[in-house]
Amino acid sequence: MSVGIPAMDGDHRTMVALLDEVCLALQSRNLFAAGEALTRFAAAMAAHFIVEERLGDGFDQDNAEAHREVHDATRRQVALLQDAVTVRRDLTAARDLADEFVADWIKRLFREDRVLAANLRHAPAPIP
Ligand SMILES: [Fe+2]
Ligand SMILES: [Fe+2]
Repeated sequence: MSVGIPAMDGDHRTMVALLDEVCLALQSRNLFAAGEALTRFAAAMAAHFIVEERLGDGFDQDNAEAHREVHDATRRQVALLQDAVTVRRDLTAARDLADEFVADWIKRLFREDRVLAANLRHAPAPIP
């Protein structure tokens, strides 16, 4: 799952590994471990999205806005998942939300990220 921009790919690998930790903890019925991993995932995601949104603002505004909307939808899904894991402590709901989130994230997020990555690859080099 590469978009061809090393910094973005590195962040994505970190996020996928953390999300895998969340899912494994949920499979093991360990809500505490899931919550810990989810907190780290949410922090990595927040930092990554801010960088991508700043980068995207330098290009086509329609693409930048669409990308931001995908990020906002993802932030809402993660907040719901965090609520199920750490506040309601509802394992069944957490598993359902995690399954839905994984599928949506892979599908939606990488579609928008590929557009941003293509723009970055074709951007003129900065003037020294
Ligand atoms: Fe993105
Ligand atoms: Fe991304």
